[in-house]
Amino acid sequence: MNQKTIVQQSIKSNFCNLSEGAPISYVLIDKRLLKVGDHINFSLFFNDALTHMSLFLQSDTVIDEEHRRKLKEIERLYVHQNEKSVYETFVEEELQRTVEDASLSLNEKVDIIYSSTSQLTDSLYKNPDALENVQRSKKIIEPIIETIFHNEKTIKSFIKIIGYDYYTHTHSLNVSIYALCLGSEMGLNEKKLNDLGCAALLHDLGKSGIEHNIINKHGALSQDEFEKMKKHPSLGYEIALNIGIKNKDILDGIRHHHEKLDGNGYPDGLKDKEITLFPRIIGVCDVFDALTTKRSYKAAIHSYDAIYIMKTRMPKHLDINIIDTFIKMLHD
Ligand SMILES: [Fe+2]
Ligand SMILES: [Fe+2]
Repeated sequence: MNQKTIVQQSIKSNFCNLSEGAPISYVLIDKRLLKVGDHINFSLFFNDALTHMSLFLQSDTVIDEEHRRKLKEIERLYVHQNEKSVYETFVEEELQRTVEDASLSLNEKVDIIYSSTSQLTDSLYKNPDALENVQRSKKIIEPIIETIFHNEKTIKSFIKIIGYDYYTHTHSLNVSIYALCLGSEMGLNEKKLNDLGCAALLHDLGKSGIEHNIINKHGALSQDEFEKMKKHPSLGYEIALNIGIKNKDILDGIRHHHEKLDGNGYPDGLKDKEITLFPRIIGVCDVFDALTTKRSYKAAIHSYDAIYIMKTRMPKHLDINIIDTFIKMLHD
């Protein structure tokens, strides 16, 4: 099996929370994160041939060689919904170890980081008002930054992985990875990158307050629906304030990612220099991800065609220098 197929399968298996036959109260997890010596404080289940859940390991167990060997034979591993947050805390800690693990190849690391952080991003958007999300978004961003910082080829590996598979809830994670790659290419320091990553991860938080049928509509929105949709940046800004985000750069990134340089954007109709760096970066990454993402109702556009469209059709909307840096990043 080639790398692309492995990545596709792993992303699919991690994003389709519920596989065929799995009761709704179980959540599919990434078994590659479980290593010998890990102490798990959640129980693990597998889906047996009779399509009912069987206990694989009891909570409060240390994983040994024998467990690891058996794990290889189990295709899908689950935790109970009630223990999902305990598992997520484990993933956050494990991600840090994944970054530092010298025995993993760069592609393996990027793959594990991407699929695990996608799950965390998903639950962050499902519970957007929770205060712990500020902390959680930092934990999602940190391993990505660390991997980007310490490996020259990471940008390419991440971009390759993002291009493979597409689910709505990965959009925010994709945008934050693009933004971090761009920010790193532009020479932003680690503190700024952290803030940028959080802003990008949370940029569409306001969509959680928009009617589901509008968010998921296949095809063009009616004028009325579009007016409702246009509220998501200011709604996201309110949510961010409510959960205690005070950083101006992050708030700007959330509120202004749909502003356009010619003043025709929303919600505040900002122009030129009134649009700060974070919304400019996020704006470019947002459009790029939307164009290159396959949806059930539209095909994905190739990266270079997307860049061409952005350069030729959107020069009055997007920051052309940032698009040029994006091109350089794809080429390098
Ligand atoms: Fe948006
Ligand atoms: Fe977006």
